[in-house]
Amino acid sequence: MSALFIFFLFLLPAFLLLTRRRSSKRLPPGSLGIPIIGQSLGLLGAMRSNTAEKRLEQRIRKYGPISKLSLFGKPTVFIYGQAANKFVFTSDSSTIAYQQTKSIRMILGDRNLFELSSEDHKRVRDALVSFLKPESLKKYVGKMDEEIKMHLELHWHGKEQVTVLPLMKTLTFNIICSLLFGVERGACRDQFVTNFEEMIEGMWAVPVNLPFTRYNRSLRASQRVQNMVKDLIHEKRMALEQKMASPHDDLITCLLSIRDQDNLQLITDKEIIHNVMLIMVAGHDTSSVLITFIMRHLINDPAVYATVLEEQEEVAKGKLAGELLTWEDLAKMKYTWRVALETLRTVPPVFGGFRKALRDIEYGGYLIPDGWQIFWATNITHMDDSIFPEPAKFDPNRFENQASIPPYCFIPFGGGPRICPGYEFARIETLVAVHHLITQFTWKLQCSDSSFIRDPLPVPTKGLPIQIMPKKLI
Ligand code: HEM
Ligand SMILES: *[C@@H]1O[C@H](CO)[C@@H](O)[C@H](O)[C@H]1NC(C)=O
Ligand SMILES: *[C@@H]1O[C@H](CO)[C@@H](O)[C@H](O)[C@H]1NC(C)=O
Repeated sequence: MSALFIFFLFLLPAFLLLTRRRSSKRLPPGSLGIPIIGQSLGLLGAMRSNTAEKRLEQRIRKYGPISKLSLFGKPTVFIYGQAANKFVFTSDSSTIAYQQTKSIRMILGDRNLFELSSEDHKRVRDALVSFLKPESLKKYVGKMDEEIKMHLELHWHGKEQVTVLPLMKTLTFNIICSLLFGVERGACRDQFVTNFEEMIEGMWAVPVNLPFTRYNRSLRASQRVQNMVKDLIHEKRMALEQKMASPHDDLITCLLSIRDQDNLQLITDKEIIHNVMLIMVAGHDTSSVLITFIMRHLINDPAVYATVLEEQEEVAKGKLAGELLTWEDLAKMKYTWRVALETLRTVPPVFGGFRKALRDIEYGGYLIPDGWQIFWATNITHMDDSIFPEPAKFDPNRFENQASIPPYCFIPFGGGPRICPGYEFARIETLVAVHHLITQFTWKLQCSDSSFIRDPLPVPTKGLPIQIMPKKLI
């Protein structure tokens, strides 16, 4: 056999393959920065001073829609836009996986929804959704209403000045304790709150497990919270066995009651504990930020304020004194919800997120190598003027016809099979809270500047201190 023949038979295809590989599968542009620390410190710092979007925009101008950088010590590809969002949210779990930082995984536990994939993810998620879906949650509107009224009695009435963000965190945490975990007001709930606060302090900390580090304190607090949830599960299981509790009482009794074909508990105790931890974190900061920024926007925008007030007074007029709000009342709060959606577009509580490539992926003409992180950002798509004309303008009427917004473009709750399952819960608590705030109080801002920092969730200046005046109740 001639050498030429060998070349044609074996070497040429290999040669072509190699050159093809090199030309069609190149890495995205950008710089990986200093190894290990990379650009993550830069990005976290930028988040704090709220210049992160500007940085990302500069990056887009410099490198185009796909670029590489190094975040949290890992090589990362940053992508954005409708197609990118669709790719991130709908790729199957053998292509890309969820990726949390080590701190978050260690603090929340390895069986929470963020860590699960494929069948396990579906099983646990379906169980959570069986409680969080609208048809199930509609029964709890009254209970939510009671929690919010009690909160206003305790922390707002009789005060002249309050700071909105920390109070909204207290409120949303209490709502979660009551509706999801069935922990009523009292010493137990207070202890829960204290431990929980200590736990989340270290979520974004550098994972160095030495005594006196933030991370170590956080891990210890996490152990205490997990033990409390364990006790709670034990109590509720006994109560269910003795028919002293019902599966519909709260999320935990609901999860304990879901059975497989052999009548065994479908969701393990560990999965219940770790997902309770996740929901405490995922559910309370996000909605407290939303309600806070709605309050700030309302007072800065008299036209929007007047329309929301009119809608809410109309609902209030239809109620007897002390009568609780119902699911049907919420259906009348259409404009208020559009204001909330526009707030989520302009100040998305979740900045973006991370995924991990599980194999070499070709995307947009570039290679995303196996093991690299993929970073998606909410804000860049929300501020795209080809999707939302005049993106800087606050215009709730964009959401009059939600179907007119193209898919994967409005993504405050993510998308695809991992879209936030707390959407309805957040909707109910936001509407009920705005209802009572606007019908019971008028308020004035004490800091007029409209900026905020990211920590990593948006925080308005000084947490939004306001002066409040009670209204005469109708
Ligand atoms: C305004 C309020 C909220 C916002 C903006 C929000 C946002 C998000 C986003 C963006 C994701 C997806 C993250 C990703 O794909 O990387 C998510 C996931 C999640 N959220 Fe929410 N959330 C909110 C309220 C809630 C509430 C009230 C709960 C619980 C009652 C909740 C529970 C969860 C859970 C369990 C996941 C993980 C879902 C999965 O991986 O399958 N969220 N949320
Ligand atoms: C905190 O640090 C101490 C000392 O290094 C260690 O013994 C302990 O296990 C750590 N706590 C947790 C929860 O990891
Ligand atoms: C989103 O990006 C715009 C433009 O860069 C910026 O003005 C705005 O503050 C950002 N909002 C959030 C919530 O990050």
